[in-house]
Amino acid sequence: MIHPPQIATLLALTGQRLPIIQAPIGSAATPDLVIAVCKAGGLGGLGLTWDSPDEVAAKVTHLRQALPGSAFFANFVLHFPCDGFDAALEAGVPVVTFSWGIDAARIARAHRAGTKVGVQVGNAEGARRAVDAGADFLIAQGVEAGGHVQSTTPLATLLPQVVAVAGNRPVVAAGGIASATTILQAITEGAAGAMLGTRFLATREAAVHPDYKAALVAAKAEDTAFTNCFDIDWPFAMHRVLRNSTFTAWEAAGSPQPPHRPGEGDIVLRQNGAALVRYCDTPPGPDATGDLLGACLYAGTGVSDIDSIEGAGDLVTRLWAEVQAALAKTRHEGAPA
Ligand SMILES: Cc1cc2nc3c(=O)[nH]c(=O)nc-3n(C[C@H](O)[C@H](O)[C@H](O)COP(=O)(O)O)c2cc1C
Repeated sequence: MIHPPQIATLLALTGQRLPIIQAPIGSAATPDLVIAVCKAGGLGGLGLTWDSPDEVAAKVTHLRQALPGSAFFANFVLHFPCDGFDAALEAGVPVVTFSWGIDAARIARAHRAGTKVGVQVGNAEGARRAVDAGADFLIAQGVEAGGHVQSTTPLATLLPQVVAVAGNRPVVAAGGIASATTILQAITEGAAGAMLGTRFLATREAAVHPDYKAALVAAKAEDTAFTNCFDIDWPFAMHRVLRNSTFTAWEAAGSPQPPHRPGEGDIVLRQNGAALVRYCDTPPGPDATGDLLGACLYAGTGVSDIDSIEGAGDLVTRLWAEVQAALAKTRHEGAPA
């Protein structure tokens, strides 16, 4: 197996076998998704920001039993209280990742529990603060990313800035990566691994509605928008979504502020016993009903590279085999005659 040198540090740190990481993708990341990714050698993880301590303990314990000796991670979005963080440590989570904040006290608690910590950043200043706070590895999230986006900078510009600040800490690249070509590009530019979110939404195990998965397969990068349109439940946080009927009607109306937006207050989705209004930040889950494609459909620019729904484990295996083949070809072509 061919490994550019920076990858070895990440693999030794987190215990994963391949430098492909499934991003925390909110409730779309199920234990089945994480297990499939980890069994294929990647690093999978759950978003546990909104879970209670008991729910967090149960999920981490379940994954530890399903993946004996294998790494996985729990993600916490520090804009929110993250009540289950200490429960995750107590249950023995091997790796945690943070986004939307840097918390030296929580990083120190994780280290005391033997847990490694990755911090997602969107600029060089954030990278500096994460290093000072004790992060073991950094995740550089470019503006191409799907979901909520911390950055306003393209990944190709951001990555070398974060690598320069990170010193000997590995840096994972995130945002718009959904193919072997873009994984290899990130590695070539100094990343120790690639984190893919949108690509894992279009897998059999992801807990989102099949119509949303089909929309991802059909979409191209230019069908995404970096916006604050879907701001209910998390105002003032930019995100990247598909340009759907709700977005285009809002844009055509001049992007008005609440409560003056078209269709404000309409019920857009019903799921898990709840009625969700237009502009809420929840995507359609597997059993949702209503105006499914008018809901918030997170997507990064990497949608251009998604052309089928795959099993998550097969996806990890295929992507890494393609990266290996491309690396071998480069070495062969670069070798002296
Ligand atoms: C549906 C969805 C939900 C997400 N939820 C979270 C989350 O809970 N916590 C987090 O740190 N990042 C979250 N992200 C952002 C990812 O961590 C990652 O930065 C992003 O998916 C990378 O870009 P890509 O989607 O283009 O691969 C989410 C992304 C998506 C697409």
